[in-house]
Amino acid sequence: MKILILCGSPHKNGTTNALAEALISGIDQSRHEVEKIQLAEKKIAPCLGCEYCKRNDGACVQKDDMAALLPSVLAADVIVFVSPIYYFGFNAQLKAVIDRFYAVNARLKLQTQKKAILLTAGGGKEEWIPDGIFANYHTMLRYLNWTSLGQICALNCHVKDQLAQTTCLEQAKELGRSL
Ligand SMILES: Cc1cc2nc3c(=O)[nH]c(=O)nc-3n(C[C@H](O)[C@H](O)[C@H](O)COP(=O)(O)O)c2cc1C
Repeated sequence: MKILILCGSPHKNGTTNALAEALISGIDQSRHEVEKIQLAEKKIAPCLGCEYCKRNDGACVQKDDMAALLPSVLAADVIVFVSPIYYFGFNAQLKAVIDRFYAVNARLKLQTQKKAILLTAGGGKEEWIPDGIFANYHTMLRYLNWTSLGQICALNCHVKDQLAQTTCLEQAKELGRSL
């Protein structure tokens, strides 16, 4: 399978990238192709909602790094959404990419074999902290006709080192192994 890992955090060495690395360490890379993209290093502007893409066969009026990312999105069998919780949802770098899926909505919705995973973390420790990001993720998958293979949220983790007090790294590795 082609596994595309979209990392939204600006912290290349942070909590959610550590979860992504743990997932990757479990993946059998002799069987699967893994591509990990640091979205904070890309220039991907928010959707303008201008509908240019609807009149121009999915082409976006904004000429930025999304054009190079889209073929990977379309080709992936599994997309791993990796984001810190920012104000109870995806962070802006990842949300901008998801919003730009709009240009190819119709094609993505026909890819009903596609699978997804959510890896996230938050500084708060209350169990309701990820309610918003979980709801966004599952509603998005329902709309796209994709299936979730799992979600992991590390709570009480302001920084990567706090992951050691959780079982999330082991869970992520196990999820990678299961692919
Ligand atoms: C702008 C901003 C918003 C945040 N919002 C939340 C939040 O709503 N809930 C929460 O539990 N943690 C929140 N946090 C904490 C981060 O989710 C947490 O520090 C996470 O481990 C960062 O992951 P990273 O190192 O992968 O970027 C926020 C942090 C920032 C900088």
